[in-house]
Amino acid sequence: MSGRARVRAVELLGSGASRLFLSTSVAPHSTGVTLTLHGINKRFRSTSSMSSYTELARERSKTVTSFYNQPAIDSSSEKPSVRLTPATMLYAGKSPDGQHILSSARYLHKELPVRIAHRIKGFRSLPFIIGCNPTILQVHELYIRAYNMLSDFPAITDQETEARYSKLVKQLLDDHKDVVTMLAEGFRECRKHIMDETLVRNFLDTTLTSRLGIRMLATHHIALHEDNPDFVGIICRRLSPKKIIEKWVDFARRLCEHQYGNSPRVRINGHVAARFPFIPLPLDYILPELLKNAMRATMESHLDTPYNVPDVVVTIANNDTDFVIRISDRGGGIPHSILDRVMDYHFSTAEQSTQDPRMSNLFDNMTNSGPQSGPMHGFGFGLPTSRAYAEYLGGSLAIQSMQGIGTDVYLRVRHIDGKGESFRV
Ligand SMILES: Nc1ncnc2c1ncn2[C@@H]1O[C@H](COP(=O)(O)OP(=O)(O)OP(=O)(O)O)[C@@H](O)[C@H]1O
Ligand SMILES: [Mg+2]
Repeated sequence: MSGRARVRAVELLGSGASRLFLSTSVAPHSTGVTLTLHGINKRFRSTSSMSSYTELARERSKTVTSFYNQPAIDSSSEKPSVRLTPATMLYAGKSPDGQHILSSARYLHKELPVRIAHRIKGFRSLPFIIGCNPTILQVHELYIRAYNMLSDFPAITDQETEARYSKLVKQLLDDHKDVVTMLAEGFRECRKHIMDETLVRNFLDTTLTSRLGIRMLATHHIALHEDNPDFVGIICRRLSPKKIIEKWVDFARRLCEHQYGNSPRVRINGHVAARFPFIPLPLDYILPELLKNAMRATMESHLDTPYNVPDVVVTIANNDTDFVIRISDRGGGIPHSILDRVMDYHFSTAEQSTQDPRMSNLFDNMTNSGPQSGPMHGFGFGLPTSRAYAEYLGGSLAIQSMQGIGTDVYLRVRHIDGKGESFRV
């Protein structure tokens, strides 16, 4: 996969970088024809956008009736999903006539509607007051729409149907890229109605990890079309943990400098020469989240000496079963009083942040949404989502806080070709 395609893949996943910016979706009924009194500022819709409006309206009414009349979704949701090991994806073979791409498309054609139907079932099981939230309803509709489009698609018989199918999959990846942000918003809006915290946690853990799996499969299929000797689909044959850490260190430092005027240096030690086959996509989500947290804590605990802050240290440990990345900061640690809540969705101390006053204007301009949703922190989604993803990958995310000094976060992830059993996508 080319560098550009990989960056794109991260955007599609709705990674730490891209999920922070809310999408502004235009409601179908707002795309009308506007005529001013004098007829000068006429804003006509082109025939194509009129037809896309009709298309949207038709799609929408289809979606609404689908909330109730959905025997196809019901029966798909009863089917088990077939999860692949990355080894199966890696060694599926590459045939010069492109047969491997056809079989990958046929697998998706069968599998995606089942996985999406499971998610729709999840939305339908939400308490009424949550399920009615407009933002959550919008995500629910997106899933129903995706189900309809994917299950209506004819059988994949040749390269021409496969090409159309890949185009549809790409389009859906794009349509769904803001789903994490929308769910974060939607649940935040109806927080006050939620009595049972475990309900939110279970729903979000399942929805977000299942989404990660779907996006990994879909992106893998699309990437199979590309010719990059280092990659098979989304699997990097010789991933260097050091390199991927460095990439996200650069990203987090830039954000941090933007917000605090400086950023801690990051030292990487341990098994810096390790290389092994792995899927970078989930790490592309988790690493920036953990690094942003470490840098924010470092900067905010050294507001008096922002140009002299302690380094963040990242240690890599590789073995034949898994690999561990420890991120150690000297940002004062996580206070005892909040330690057992930092892994809760929506828990954040963002509103208590002390911004450098010199940065506040810039910061507001950048986010356009007030001081609570900065790119460094804000949703309270970084840790819980990272933990859910790590567990989905057969690993874990653990925190050790030395209150008064700093925090160590341990990300443990299972190898895809290691001794133990690997995870399944
Ligand atoms: N390394 C750390 N040192 C000190 N406190 C931390 C650290 N990491 C996380 N925290 C605390 O845990 C809270 C939750 O972290 P989390 O990453 O889930 O959310 P956030 O950073 O506030 O927002 P988001 O990550 O969604 O932008 C943070 O607000 C912060 O108070
Ligand atoms: Mg965070």
